[in-house]
Amino acid sequence: MTPIVVNSNALKSMNNFKLPENLGFGSVLTPVMIYSDYQNGEWGPLKMEPYHDLSINPTMKVLHYAQEIFEGMKGYLSPEGEPLLFRPEMNAKRFNYSARMMAMPEIAEETYLSAAHAITHLSKDFIPRESGSSLYIRPFMFATDTSLGIKPSETFRFMVIASPSQSYFKPGDLNVYIERHAVRACPGGVGTAKTGGNYAASLKSSTKAAGFNCQQTLWLDAIEKKYVEEMSGMNFVAIKNGKLITPELTDTILAGITRDSILKIAPTLGLETSESKIRINELLEDFQSKKASEAFACGTAVIIAPISKFVEENKTEVPVSISTGEWSMKIRKYLLDIQEGRINGPQGWSVKVKKTY
Ligand SMILES: Cc1ncc(COP(=O)(O)O)c(C=O)c1O
Repeated sequence: MTPIVVNSNALKSMNNFKLPENLGFGSVLTPVMIYSDYQNGEWGPLKMEPYHDLSINPTMKVLHYAQEIFEGMKGYLSPEGEPLLFRPEMNAKRFNYSARMMAMPEIAEETYLSAAHAITHLSKDFIPRESGSSLYIRPFMFATDTSLGIKPSETFRFMVIASPSQSYFKPGDLNVYIERHAVRACPGGVGTAKTGGNYAASLKSSTKAAGFNCQQTLWLDAIEKKYVEEMSGMNFVAIKNGKLITPELTDTILAGITRDSILKIAPTLGLETSESKIRINELLEDFQSKKASEAFACGTAVIIAPISKFVEENKTEVPVSISTGEWSMKIRKYLLDIQEGRINGPQGWSVKVKKTY
């Protein structure tokens, strides 16, 4: 693993750290940050420092042209109190995929992983014990050249920060707005990358969704606006005729690691799966006729969140019969049992955290 140059104040800052009673999601930060700078075609050393504000030149390219990528991973506590990461190499690979998509340099997987292990190990006494709560880890990279010219930056910063967090939604809390006008990503674009612009593009619809008492937007394909794609930060799954269905991956859908994990564990639970095109209108009819019984959002932050109802712009509502669906909760429990180390998942999914600093 790549060594880390540790500023001793970073370790000291952990001594004064206390978790507030109410954590929420992503607002309490572990008081350290790990970073590396890229210049002259190579990455510099990984450094650990106390968490602090950054000083940013107003012409820094990321501020204007959004050349940035990020990841979302979680650190869990095993029943023995050991910190664990879930399929972290998948996040490292996806980070480098996003980097290629955004004309940014790749970072060695072992450097990425060394930083993720270090921040999780350092935060291990602050990973909440309540099942479903965890340490949310945010690796990211941004363009640091200072000039207003529109061209790929030649310098970058890679950083990792972490946030002890509660789960994103409580089961039963999720109403979904069907977006039939705006699009999140189009063919040939960067929808498969975890880059800020995709999330910026989703915000106007989030505001609209909130007006319909919905917590998420369901995006449709950009061309025909007929097929379900995903939500703004999570993939979409439904149960129809007793089978798990999810949209097949295209160049406009982010390949979720939770989605992939669910597709791999569902057969173990006796559930057949299918990845194909899902027509939104047919799906809504299927819920009305009870052919479809459950729908849920899945992703690292949310784990699995059952959907209570779909809402249209004309205020039509389609309830998803059981708001805390039977399969949704069964899969959620099984996945969490693996992530939190209560049962063994497939080889290599649950990784013991190493002290890399
Ligand atoms: C747009 C989008 N789709 C899906 C997901 C789910 O991916 P994962 O399960 O890897 O967290 C995320 C979150 O990372 C996302 O941002």
